[in-house]
Amino acid sequence: MRLRVDLLPHGAYSDVVLVVDVLRATTTAVAFLERGAEALLLTATLEAALARQGAGVLLAGERGGLPPAGFDLGNSPVEVAAGTFAGQTVVMNTTNGTAAAHLAAATGKHVLLAALTNAHAAARRARALATEEIAIVCAGTGGRAGMEDVYAAGVLAEYLLAMGDFATDDGARIALTVRRSFGNPAEVLAGSAHGAFLARIGLEEDVRFAAGVSVSTVVPLLDPAGGAEDALRFVAG
Ligand code: MLT
Repeated sequence: MRLRVDLLPHGAYSDVVLVVDVLRATTTAVAFLERGAEALLLTATLEAALARQGAGVLLAGERGGLPPAGFDLGNSPVEVAAGTFAGQTVVMNTTNGTAAAHLAAATGKHVLLAALTNAHAAARRARALATEEIAIVCAGTGGRAGMEDVYAAGVLAEYLLAMGDFATDDGARIALTVRRSFGNPAEVLAGSAHGAFLARIGLEEDVRFAAGVSVSTVVPLLDPAGGAEDALRFVAG
């Protein structure tokens, strides 16, 4: 079994893909399903999200870290964790994370959303589904690698190596080295470029929340039957 880490999304997947956008898209996605949302629709564009407004549907996302015009919610996992979303479908579009999910879904067989908050459950689910490869895809920010995502990829890789034998690529070894270089996830996230940006715009609580390792057992899993070309449907898998 192969274990690979893409420090930025670049496509060409064949089996299980774990999409990681710790600050904050995948952390928020886990929180929505944890708080009862029936499904998440990750859209390819802002327009595709706005086109899905309607009864029983909430629009959530960000541009520049803040809610886009016309959206019901931003992309704050702290805000989501304080709410209840039973029976609702949440349409999500963000700057980097939702695009990474679409790239993964184009060729991946099983696509799961992973963060630090659901890391152990996501690793366990990926291991159960994989037959040849687990690819961990770091979303990054604006086309630049993010320390928070690489660190989370290292946490996921460490869990997976404890679950079985893998041939690791250079990306996996880099992620494991980063993971083993730091003891405190909250410090890693606060020290990352995007974590510092979020703190500057008053969202430091989100950064602290995203550092909670394996506090959730919810794993968003792509439902291949339920989406559309411009909207991927994820449910608690
Ligand atoms: C992303 O897509 O990278 C994140 O959603 C950005 C954010 O939430 O600030």
